[in-house]
Amino acid sequence: MVKQKRIAVLTSGGDAPGMNAAIRAVVRAASAYGIETIGVNNGYAGLVDGSFRPLDNRAVGGIIQRGGTILGSARCLRFHTLEVQRQALSHLQAAGIDGLIVIGGNGSQQGALALHRLGFPVVGVASTIDNDLAETETTIGADTALNTSIGYIDRLRDTASSHHRAFIVEVMGRHSGYLALMAAIATGAELAVVPEQDIAPETIVAGMLDTYARGKPHYIVIVAEGATLKAQDLVEYFQQHSGSFEARLSIMGHVQRGGSPTVFDRILASQLGAAAVHCMVEGRAGMLAGWAKSQVNEIPLEIAVAPCQKVTPELLELAGVLAR
Ligand code: ADP
Ligand code: F6P
Repeated sequence: MVKQKRIAVLTSGGDAPGMNAAIRAVVRAASAYGIETIGVNNGYAGLVDGSFRPLDNRAVGGIIQRGGTILGSARCLRFHTLEVQRQALSHLQAAGIDGLIVIGGNGSQQGALALHRLGFPVVGVASTIDNDLAETETTIGADTALNTSIGYIDRLRDTASSHHRAFIVEVMGRHSGYLALMAAIATGAELAVVPEQDIAPETIVAGMLDTYARGKPHYIVIVAEGATLKAQDLVEYFQQHSGSFEARLSIMGHVQRGGSPTVFDRILASQLGAAAVHCMVEGRAGMLAGWAKSQVNEIPLEIAVAPCQKVTPELLELAGVLAR
């Protein structure tokens, strides 16, 4: 057992509901081992600038139910260079820190992998609304974001049905259509447009005409932000090609990232945060704490950041079949 004396924890990339619950779990699990935890402010930006704060059990009280991250997060482009990564390591070493836990999504875990390859002990915690890490069935925040989305889409569906309108709803997902597809299945939307599978606008308009011909009062298309066909362009296409049928655009935006985490995300974050500390203490650095088959799953970081296959042709087809 390689017991650390002082570890650091940071949250990086897009914030996700449950990140605070994960920070709390890291601090309290580390404390149970007699390990001190230092919080890094604003993701890799704080690591590069040496912006740290001590965290003890009381400092993480009252945050399990809060969205966002008390540590702050950032997109830090300078962290992509080796020179800046070395600078970050020098701050960790100067502060007597001998392990780092990175709570974040795919990009953040690529940063974690870079530090691990430089010889520093790093363990990741899977946390992003995008659910874009491989070999983990889900990530902290995805469940809450989906619950937020379905409340929003259910409301749009009420008005879409009343007015016999089409709605094009843009949801988040830069490289992943997971949120769009799952929201479509969970709300009974007619179609999910995702980065993983291109679709022509004429096919979508044809789908709308067929939907109305089958007697449905609305046509709802959920478009992932990162899809090749953009929601805005699709609405313009509808305006020119859908005859008397009207379409409206609705962009959900960052409301999906905020809010109090669901029970599922709180429990997931609590387990993964603690598991990351166990993994570090037991000398298995370079791993990501994820979730598979209803239990914690440790995944090598280089595997976790590889492209994942959560949006399958079968699930896309299911969404269509069940909306008929
Ligand atoms: P997320 O973790 O939510 O996917 P990003 O993709 O924006 O968010 O990544 C968060 C941060 O992680 C980036 O701003 C950058 O600092 C760091 N990062 C991303 N990719 C890499 C990489 N290939 N090498 C080093 N650091 C990276
Ligand atoms: O990575 C999480 C995410 O919310 C993506 O779904 C979205 O495309 C992106 O971040 C938005 O980034 P920003 O908050 O920088 O606008």
